[in-house]
Amino acid sequence: MTRPTVILLALALLWSACDRETDLEETPEQIPADTSTFSAADLQILTPVLDLKALPFNYTDTRLPPHYQSAEAYDADNTPEDNPITNMGATLGRVLFYDPQLSQNNRISCASCHEQGAAFSDPRRFSVGLNGERTKRNSMTLINSRYYENGHFFWDERAATLEAQVLLPIQDHIEMGMTLEDLVAKLQPLDYYQVLFTKAFGSEEVTAERIARALAQFTRSIVSVNSKFDRGFVAAGLPEDEEEMPNFPNFTDQENLGLDVFYRGRNGATCLYCHGSPQHVNDEA
Ligand code: HEC
Ligand code: HEC
Repeated sequence: MTRPTVILLALALLWSACDRETDLEETPEQIPADTSTFSAADLQILTPVLDLKALPFNYTDTRLPPHYQSAEAYDADNTPEDNPITNMGATLGRVLFYDPQLSQNNRISCASCHEQGAAFSDPRRFSVGLNGERTKRNSMTLINSRYYENGHFFWDERAATLEAQVLLPIQDHIEMGMTLEDLVAKLQPLDYYQVLFTKAFGSEEVTAERIARALAQFTRSIVSVNSKFDRGFVAAGLPEDEEEMPNFPNFTDQENLGLDVFYRGRNGATCLYCHGSPQHVNDEA
């Protein structure tokens, strides 16, 4: 072997070693497939109340496009180590999210104010709570909450984590008007919740902490990955410099004008500073 070849080979080895190291540091660990299912006995209890299949919706494998698999997206993900999304945990979270029993008079669910058809926000300026009173602020979208790196929630960021946030609307006297003790006592006797809590957390015990974990898992599963923006961003080759964002091939002229305002600051707009990441969430401001 001539000397240049040896050096090249050594370089190649070094290169691939570095490569592997970066991979380990920067890409999410492979999560083993979540294969949990509801048994026939479970379904007998669930089916009269809920439209669930033996195989729950696959929340752990959401087939994220490349811009959600980047090191930046991985770093921004506020999922805590002790509450990863599981299919059964997020399924329980979804049932809780749409259940008006979470409010004191069984009238209001999370979805009353965070409407799926309005991108999990409320098209009204203020939302209406259990007794017809209005909230003091607008109900913002829940989409991509997972990618808010500092993990603080509400307009004034007063909730330190998503797990802490999701219990507050339940106890807010305008929104849902429940105490956590009353909520636990209300859900514990319901046989279908016993099945859902057992599948999600190993026993039928209902606790405020388990309710918080399940609601947070479901909320983190609400991710926008296949919008016209996402397809355009991938088609434009995942551009890295946002201030130089090229026009998107799938956008109309008007939409590209909007892109000019949003990213390149046409007319002095500064959207980029607060919504710059491909998930449109960041901590800058
Ligand atoms: C009566 C209306 C109402 C109900 C019911 C309601 N919310 Fe909200 N939600 C709001 C309002 C208003 C805000 C903003 C409040 C603020 O910032 O002070 C908000 C904010 C949030 C946020 C913060 C998002 C962010 O980006 O900071 C999350 C998460 C959230 N709600 C989840 C839930 C969950 C989960 C439930 C059910 C347990 C729920 N909400 C029930 C009105 C509601
Ligand atoms: C100083 C920071 C800041 C700037 C600049 C900014 N935004 Fe926002 N925007 C926010 C915050 C904070 C939210 C609430 C996000 C949340 O918690 O869901 C928001 C929410 C939004 C929403 C979702 C509203 C809802 O009800 O769900 C849209 C749409 C939006 N911004 C568009 C824009 C556009 C377009 C621009 C530029 C013209 C812009 N923003 C500039 C901070 C900013």
